[in-house]
Amino acid sequence: MTIEVRPATADDAAGLVPLIAAMGYEVTAAEVERRIRELPAGDAVLVAVDEGRVCGWCHVYRSHSLIVGQRAEIAGLAVDPGHQGGGVGGALLRHAEEWAAGNGIEVVHLRSGSERGAAHEFYRKQGYSSVKTQLALSKRLRPAGSPS
Ligand SMILES: CC(C)(COP(=O)(O)OP(=O)(O)OC[C@H]1O[C@@H](n2cnc3c(N)ncnc32)[C@H](O)[C@@H]1OP(=O)(O)O)[C@@H](O)C(=O)NCCC(=O)NCCS
Repeated sequence: MTIEVRPATADDAAGLVPLIAAMGYEVTAAEVERRIRELPAGDAVLVAVDEGRVCGWCHVYRSHSLIVGQRAEIAGLAVDPGHQGGGVGGALLRHAEEWAAGNGIEVVHLRSGSERGAAHEFYRKQGYSSVKTQLALSKRLRPAGSPS
């Protein structure tokens, strides 16, 4: 298996849909394509590709905070179930860390749902440790799909 890791383009949207769906988020290719196009210029979305097919992805960006300063945040990381355990996730995370280091960022941070025990083991193996337990809160300001 020869895996290439490269920056994502809007053309990768259809390949990303099943990987996002496997994480429990229903989304269309058109919506993923729009989201890729609307990302801030500094964000990095990486895809792992096996013989032309997307088999993993990772989104990393620079976050700013008065409290903790700047750090790299992993906003998403997933590998196609058929490729899990083959080193793809580790390769994507390494590329994200290299992106962060190359941009002068010293800390990589991520949030992972409490139900994702397998992913937590994966991150620990990659040198990450738990720094806090949090409650995620959000509020919808308009009904879903209503015109803005
Ligand atoms: C978590 C995930 C990204 C890991 O990707 P992966 O390609 O399966 O991981 P890798 O094969 O690169 O594994 C790298 C190392 O972590 C270890 N690892 C991976 N999954 C593990 C698990 N469930 N338990 C223990 N170790 C694990 C591997 O054994 C490997 O160790 P090694 O370097 O000593 O051989 C992938 O399983 C996934 O997409 N899961 C579903 C989506 C998800 O939970 N994403 C994270 C959201 S925060």
